[in-house]
Amino acid sequence: MVNRTRLALRSSHETDLKNMLFHCDNLECIDYLIANGFENKVDLVYIDPPFLSGERYFHRIDNDSSLAFEDLWKQSKYLEMMYARLVGIRKLLSSAGSLFIHLDWHAVHYVKIMMDRIFGPENFRNEIIVKRGRRKNLQYQFDSIDKMHAAYDSILWYSKSSDAKFSLPLAEHRSEAKWMGFWSNVNRPTMRYEIFDFTPARGQWKWAKERALKAIGNYRLYEEKFSQMTLEEYWEATGKKLEFIRKRASVKYAEYWIPPKTHRIIDNVWLDIEAYNYSTGYGTEKHAELLERIIGQFSKEGSLVADFFCGSGTTLATASKLSRKWIGCDSSPAAMAVTKKRLGSANFEVININ
Ligand SMILES: C[S@@+](CC[C@H](N)C(=O)[O-])C[C@H]1O[C@@H](n2cnc3c(N)ncnc32)[C@H](O)[C@@H]1O
Repeated sequence: MVNRTRLALRSSHETDLKNMLFHCDNLECIDYLIANGFENKVDLVYIDPPFLSGERYFHRIDNDSSLAFEDLWKQSKYLEMMYARLVGIRKLLSSAGSLFIHLDWHAVHYVKIMMDRIFGPENFRNEIIVKRGRRKNLQYQFDSIDKMHAAYDSILWYSKSSDAKFSLPLAEHRSEAKWMGFWSNVNRPTMRYEIFDFTPARGQWKWAKERALKAIGNYRLYEEKFSQMTLEEYWEATGKKLEFIRKRASVKYAEYWIPPKTHRIIDNVWLDIEAYNYSTGYGTEKHAELLERIIGQFSKEGSLVADFFCGSGTTLATASKLSRKWIGCDSSPAAMAVTKKRLGSANFEVININ
């Protein structure tokens, strides 16, 4: 088995890196990768480790159910286990790389403190809130509660270095074009100038004078020569760059045009997408939508993505779909079986370190 491992790892130095699925304890996998040239090579790691939930998880298909993995840790042992893996993952990350750790209230605050120690608090980027799986709020049947129903998971995002920058994270979101008042009650006298024969006595116009005059000219030209098309059509035909300001007789202040939008910049509350899925029968399967957002927004095509608690293989399948290379690892035979089936004919090597 070791020979096969060496074979696969050798190809990491070539541009045509093979995807690798490790079936072993992930600490062995991480150490092996470090020893075989993968230090500073991984661009994005997503891990979804046991949550310290005190539960057993199963793989269910039809009426059959087999144990997938146990999450029956004592807190101190759990944190020791996580510490060793997080230190190793940090070594594997490239200088612009990121780690996303999916947890819930059981361990997230302890792991946050541990991560601040290992990665440095300056490398903490966000705590991302995602939807919890199908867990009904059972409290309707009681008259009193000891605590509220927990309805979200947290994903901690850390980068390896504090100067790493990322493209704006976008989600599809359509909004119509609209006109808005050009006056604002922010009070900068330098931004009070005359347009349409009027100078505001207080507040200010929203843009500097030169920009505003240009936008007034743009709208005049549209009205005089191109009003057979809609303003939106004109804006599209002119390269989606022009700005417009107009004055209507019935409206007190001038108005500026806000173009239609197809996307919005996302923040750290991701309740618009699913975090869990139930497509493979693997008890804690995460949703491809979640991994598409993480991998798609925070890594580039061709980069190397890893998941050292890969379970049913959601990260690996998504990385393949998005043209990233990947490394996966899980110690559970059930996880291996589901992942191999799911990845089907995808080009990867299975590696057992024993
Ligand atoms: C919450 S599940 C991951 C689910 C996965 N994200 C998915 O979409 O299916 C956690 C996984 O970590 C694996 N695991 C736990 N401890 C491990 C270890 N020390 N080494 C490798 N895998 C481990 C378990 O077998 C389990 O499959």
